[in-house]
Order: sequence, then structure tokens, then C-alpha cells
Amino acid sequence: MLEDRVKNWPRGGDFHTDPLCQERISPFITRELRRLHEYDDKRKIVCVESGMKPEEITYLFAPHSARAAHHARDLCKRIGLGDIEAMNVYWQIMLHDIGKTRLPVNIWDRIEKPEPGSQIYIQRKTHPELGADAIRKEFSDNLDHWFIKQAIEIALLHHEKMDGTGQFKIPGEELSLPVRLAIIVDAFDGGQYLRPHHVDANKAPAEGIANAFGKKPYPPSHHLGENRRDVSIPGVLQRMCNKKGAGHFDMELLDAFEEMMLEQYHAKQKATNAYEKWDLEN
Ligand SMILES: [Fe+2]
Ligand SMILES: [Fe+2]
Repeated sequence: MLEDRVKNWPRGGDFHTDPLCQERISPFITRELRRLHEYDDKRKIVCVESGMKPEEITYLFAPHSARAAHHARDLCKRIGLGDIEAMNVYWQIMLHDIGKTRLPVNIWDRIEKPEPGSQIYIQRKTHPELGADAIRKEFSDNLDHWFIKQAIEIALLHHEKMDGTGQFKIPGEELSLPVRLAIIVDAFDGGQYLRPHHVDANKAPAEGIANAFGKKPYPPSHHLGENRRDVSIPGVLQRMCNKKGAGHFDMELLDAFEEMMLEQYHAKQKATNAYEKWDLEN
């Protein structure tokens, strides 16, 4: 039962009152988020090398980290954790992708999806380790600190899978609940943003790919064009639950996340519909 497992959630301190968190970790997070923003800006400049337009880059790493952190905080509360645990994990997840900024800026924005085993593919896959190393290096004198330990674990393991086929082949039983939660919120946010290769290869001819990416301005992420991957909230959740499923995710945790996100989605739809109706009548 998820309820019982939540009782064993690692208890640390409180990010907002812990002296190390406030004096050193908080400024470190601010610096790293700024670095991610600057890195995103550089991506928009160098992407033209590979034939992309700056406006075609919709999956920006700094906003992704913030959205993943927000979802993590909400999910923590949803599964019965308190504000302190929710905010601790919120700040830890802000750091999960900082390893990306330690890599060449021109490896992310490519029209073609890199082949497994290619140099770019291998380079991209090193970002969890580079992120964990960056935190270790910065806090080498405090590696036993509760926040640092969990932040390193999340940065290092956020691309693992429950069936043990992830990057480091860590079996699911060895993945902590905070790591499992990070895996879900990270994959969900990543799945909401179209990348150039997100066309249905079975349906799309070569010109379909060019049409879908390149000739037209990049569509908003919720636009479901012909041959495009469904990146709506229900679409992403459906892919996570039914296609990737238990091999990738902790399904009890994913069920709770799905329920929460669909509730938020339907509430937003309802509000939008009510507004549109009011707008038409006034
Ligand atoms: Fe990542
Ligand atoms: Fe990520």
C-alpha cells in the first residue's frame, strides 16, 4: 500500500530553517537555475547549426526543472506528506538536470533523434552523473547532510526504470520513493513538450516530418497536429500508464499522480469553458 510506504519517506530537516540549506544550498540552487537559463539562451543561438529555428526549441531546461519541482511538491502533498517534505523535494528536484549545463550546448537540439550508441546519445546520457558530481563537488564537506544526500540521489537516478533497465541498471527495489517520484514528474514534463522526432513514424512520410517540424512555426505544445504525438495531459498520462507502465514507473505512485493531474486538468477545462461562455455572452 502506498500509504504504508509513504510512512517510510526519508525524514530530514526543513529546507526553510536548516542553516546549511539557507546559507549555502539556497544560493547554490539560485546560481544553478540562472546557469540553466543562460544555457537555454545559448541553445537558441547554436540550434541554427543543425537547421532549427530558435522558436522551435520548446523544451527549455530551466522551466522544465521548475515545472517538475511543482508537480513533485503537489504529488508529495497528494500522497499525504507534509509541507516540509513537499518543499524539501521541490528544491531537490530543481537540481536534477544541472548536469546538462556541463555538456556542450549544441548536443540537444537536433532534428533527428540521436541513434543509441552515437556520440551525442552517449554525451546526453552523462548528465545525471555530471549533475550529481557538481553537487558532490560543491558540498564535499557536507556529503552526509540529509538534503545533499537526497539531491545527489535524485540527480543521479532520475532516468532509472523500475525493471532495472535504466541508465545504471539499478533494480527497482533499490530506488527510494523520492527517486521514484522524481522519475515520474520528470518523464511527465518531458512528455508534454514536442521534440522534432515526435511524429508518428508509421504514418508520416519524409515530407510529413518536414511539415511537422521546420516549415511552419512550432505549434503550441497542446496542439495535436496530424501525425504528431499527443502531448495533452491525458495523452502523456495515457502513454506513461499504458505504454511504459510498470517497467518504467512505480505504478501506485503513478496512479496517484494520474488522478491528481487529471483532476487539475478537468478543473482547468471547466474554468476555461465557463470563461469562454461568459465571454460569448458579454
Ligand atoms: Fe534528465
Ligand atoms: Fe529532467
